[in-house]
Amino acid sequence: MVGLIGAMSVEVEALMAQLEDRQEKQIGMDVFVSGKLFGQEAVLAVCGPGKVNAALCAQSMILHYQPEWILNLGVAGAGDQTVSIGDMVVATAAVQHDMDTSPIGDPVGLVSKINLVEIPCDEALRDKLVRAAKAVDGMNVHEGIIATGDQFIHSGEVRSRINGLFHAKAVEMEGGAVAHACYVHGVPCGVLRSISDQADGHSDMDYPTFTRLAASHSQQVVENLLRGE
Ligand code: ADE
Repeated sequence: MVGLIGAMSVEVEALMAQLEDRQEKQIGMDVFVSGKLFGQEAVLAVCGPGKVNAALCAQSMILHYQPEWILNLGVAGAGDQTVSIGDMVVATAAVQHDMDTSPIGDPVGLVSKINLVEIPCDEALRDKLVRAAKAVDGMNVHEGIIATGDQFIHSGEVRSRINGLFHAKAVEMEGGAVAHACYVHGVPCGVLRSISDQADGHSDMDYPTFTRLAASHSQQVVENLLRGE
């Protein structure tokens, strides 16, 4: 069984619609929907925005379904000017950009307890995601750091700070938390994001316009991934 987590229903609804032999289970406030997706056993959930929602959902999924890997998919803001709306970013690793104990001597982004700034993503899954993304006609695919925090980024200054610290290709609100939960439990993890906005102050205008399109792109990549396996 494989696990798929999106923050908002628009990020997984096209996949949910394809799920056969559906079974639902509620754990806390998360609803897990399992079944057959493009021939593979899968479990899907909408975790809600933010790191704590994402970590709670990922941990419940791991403990109740024992997935062989978990993919966090959805939309994100661009991490720098080389990334455009509609592009796809596959994470090499995820960081939590708002984790900051630097006043007591740590590097910015160091996640206590696991003692990492860059939380690794599974290389084999990443390679498959890149192949699946490149199979979408006209898709521009980037590989790099995805930066997660409990803020919607809509300022060029904030985006530059995050990019300067972590060289992030995309900014979002869940990937680093799903990767954290997976790391703790030894479950391979992937983060796949389609760019919905530039995160530079024009987000308010771009976001509703491009979210639906970007969300459908990342679900198309998951379809390619699952059909190819
Ligand atoms: N998800 C989509 N766009 C985002 C942004 N600009 N900041 C954080 N999360 C996002």
